[in-house]
Amino acid sequence: MIIEELLKRLNDIYKNKQNRLKHVLGVRDTAIKFGKKYNCNLKKLEIASLLHDITKYYSYEENIKVVTKYFTNSEYIIKEYNEHILHAYSAYVVAQSEYGITDIDILNPIMYHTIGREAMTIYEKIIFVSDYIEPNRIYKSSIKVRKIAQDNLDLAVFVAIDDSIKYYEKNGGQVPSSAYQARKYYNELLEDQNEKN
Ligand SMILES: [Fe+2]
Ligand SMILES: [Fe+2]
Repeated sequence: MIIEELLKRLNDIYKNKQNRLKHVLGVRDTAIKFGKKYNCNLKKLEIASLLHDITKYYSYEENIKVVTKYFTNSEYIIKEYNEHILHAYSAYVVAQSEYGITDIDILNPIMYHTIGREAMTIYEKIIFVSDYIEPNRIYKSSIKVRKIAQDNLDLAVFVAIDDSIKYYEKNGGQVPSSAYQARKYYNELLEDQNEKN
């Protein structure tokens, strides 16, 4: 049973990092709530949640090593994504290589959980937003997005991406171009929705 296996592993690797464990379980609980609302396969969401930060404490070098080994476009990935984002790519590799996961409803939400992307599937949006708003997240933007997500998931996605970009810009972090593309995409999508209403 993959869920039991993952919980065991998480308890093990986060033995001295209880806050990270709480975060992961918070993402799972939040994702399951959304999954029920949007009629998703809850097991897929649970597995994606439990795996999304499985490599959070890999060193930069470890991430580079894994990404270089497994992705043919590794040069692009390493150039495009800063050190806070790369763990999403190594987690994707762990999901595939250690747990034999091939389902894109599980793999893609893991890969895009940090900064999102254009035209996300419902699984991607749920994990992305749940990572941002799970109950242990207490910064201002999380609280704001948590409220928004109750009735407009796309707007929640937009605000989370927008605030993340602003945060990275302010703190000198490199912002991936895919984040700007995603922000533009969701901005336009919401404009279209507003016009229709
Ligand atoms: Fe993460
Ligand atoms: Fe996370």
